[in-house]
Amino acid sequence: MLAKRGVETSDDWIVERTGIRARHFVADDVNASDLATAAAQRALEAAGLAATDIDLIIVATSTPDMVFPSTASIVQRKLGVHGCAAFDVQAVCSGFIYALSVADAMIKAGGANRALVIGAEVFSRLLDFDDRTTCVLFGDGAGAVVLEASHKPGVVATKLHADGRHLEILCTPGTVSGGRILGDPLLKMDGPAVFKLAVGVLGDVANEVLALAGRTTSDVDWLVPHQANIRIMQSTARKLKLPADRVVVTVAEHGNTSAASIPLALDVAVRSGQVQRGQRLLLEGVGGGFTWGAALVDY
Ligand code: UT7
Repeated sequence: MLAKRGVETSDDWIVERTGIRARHFVADDVNASDLATAAAQRALEAAGLAATDIDLIIVATSTPDMVFPSTASIVQRKLGVHGCAAFDVQAVCSGFIYALSVADAMIKAGGANRALVIGAEVFSRLLDFDDRTTCVLFGDGAGAVVLEASHKPGVVATKLHADGRHLEILCTPGTVSGGRILGDPLLKMDGPAVFKLAVGVLGDVANEVLALAGRTTSDVDWLVPHQANIRIMQSTARKLKLPADRVVVTVAEHGNTSAASIPLALDVAVRSGQVQRGQRLLLEGVGGGFTWGAALVDY
């Protein structure tokens, strides 16, 4: 389809270099909040809860419906509830790990009992279809989880990082000012630079979070990584000495959906029966900022 649009690329190149076979783009009248609300409803249904049971909504997104208010406030309204805390977290492709970590901390501090943590993106809106190095990679989607206060974790440990020295290697630099867009509003990425950094930091942060929990990779049943590139996932698994068949891989069906990719992968793995109750998960993500992080979750 892209080749037909005049982009100099091929299915073979995309599959071989990234593992991506398909992506989803929303219609013009669909926003991140629509995807987020649908994902939230499916997560609530799976948890046997109603939206009124939730006292915290966090949406991880870099493609919000509006500059403000937050996409989380819009999701709250679409869920037909009001009063509970609702806000967005913006850490690009690490957004879901950041949001999960914030929700976990708020629950552990007694500030919330039941949280909806959602990753939702419409990255198709940011793509420059004249740039073959980025337009073949990203897609739209959303995924959500419900966290509940409990004596047994849950979220065992999280670790977050950012390094603002690398802002330029992955960014959408445009901004709104005086009713105009200043700067370029389309996504820019130095793919090889991101690739190199990602491979280094993902292995390190996985080991950090395991050390925080007093665990090793042999305690990990499933690695659920950010779905950017199959080669990054394979390389992280090799570094951690995790066999490839313990990595949840959905990049082929979704492409890179930024903050949505980890909860989407988790959703596919849980609903397909791949991830089972009682199993121990290592979630990890990396993205613009530069941001990265990991979470250990006992499902
Ligand atoms: O989600 C946040 C985190 N993001 C990521 O983790 C993305 C990280 N980066 C990557 O996944 C990879 O760097 C890419 C998939 C973006 C690129 O793969 P690569 O193996 O690093 O390719 P490259 O950029 O080194 O380019 C190799 C060649 C170049 O041609 P020459 O200079 O060797 O003639 C590119 O121009 O491939 C060319 N190329 C393409 N060819 C066909 C770049 N994009 C395309 C394309 N189709 N779409």
